[in-house]
Amino acid sequence: MLTEKKMWNDLYRHDEMFAAQGCQLLVSPQKISELHRDADKLLSNLRVKKGDKLLDVGCGSLGTIVVPALKKKAETYGMDISSVAISLLKKRIQKLKVGKAEFVEADAKNIPIEDNFFDFVISSSTLIHIKKIDKVISEMSRVLKSGGTMYASPFHNKKSFVNIPYTIIPVILGEKTKRRMFYTHHLSEIISIFRENDLVIEKAISFRGIFPFYIHVDFTKIFSENLVWKRIERLEKNAHTWIFYLKKN
Ligand SMILES: C[S@@+](CC[C@H](N)C(=O)[O-])C[C@H]1O[C@@H](n2cnc3c(N)ncnc32)[C@H](O)[C@@H]1O
Repeated sequence: MLTEKKMWNDLYRHDEMFAAQGCQLLVSPQKISELHRDADKLLSNLRVKKGDKLLDVGCGSLGTIVVPALKKKAETYGMDISSVAISLLKKRIQKLKVGKAEFVEADAKNIPIEDNFFDFVISSSTLIHIKKIDKVISEMSRVLKSGGTMYASPFHNKKSFVNIPYTIIPVILGEKTKRRMFYTHHLSEIISIFRENDLVIEKAISFRGIFPFYIHVDFTKIFSENLVWKRIERLEKNAHTWIFYLKKN
C-alpha cells in the first residue's frame, strides 16, 4: 500500500525541490538562502530567542524554518513523516554549520512528544497537504505551552473559485494515486478547530490573486510582508488563502 510516508519519501528521492517547494521546481542555492533570510524575519517578528523550544512540523529538506531557528540559537526540533527529507536536512545543516537540531520522524497526527513542551510550534506549507487537519492542529496545540505561539501557514479557502482545482483533484485522483495533494477548508471549520484547541487568532494574513496561491507566489517570498499580490491585514472571509498567527490560552 502506498502510505503517506512512502509517497513523501518517493517524492523526496525523485525530486527534492518538488517535494519541498511545489511549483517552484528550480530552487537555486541562492533562492534557498533568500528563503532562510525571509524566514529569519518571520522568527524575529514572532520574537524567537536563544533557548526557546521550537518545533517545525513538516520541516522538509530545505531547512526553511530549522536553519534560521538554529541561527537564533533556539532549541530546535524538526519533525517530518519523511525519513528522506530528514536525512537531506541533516546533511544541509552540517554543511551550513549552523548548530545541532533534534529530529523526529513521525506523522503530525500523532506527535511523540510530551504535552506543553514548546514555546513555538510552526508549520509552513504542510497543513495544505493533509486532509484531516483537525488531528494535526490538536497535536500541535497539545505540545505547545500555554501562552506559546503558533504559526500555521497556509490554508486554502474551499469557497474560493481559484481553489476549485485543489478541491476536485483529490476527489478525482486522491485515493487512486495517493500523489501529493492540496486540500481546501472552510474558514468556519478552521476557526472551530482553533477554538476547540484553546488557540486564539492573534493575526491573520489573507491573500487574493487571479491564480491559486501556489502558482502565484514566489516561494522564496512566502514569509516576506511584500508579496506580489493584494495582502489584506484582517481575517477576510472571501480571501483565497490564509496564514494564521495564534496564541495558546
Ligand atoms: C511542501 S513540504 C514543506 C516543507 C517545509 N515546511 C518548507 O516550508 O520548506 C511539506 C512537508 O510536510 C511533510 N508532511 C506531509 N504530511 C505529513 C504528516 N502527516 N506528518 C508530518 N509531516 C508531513 C512532507 O514530508 C514534507 O516534507
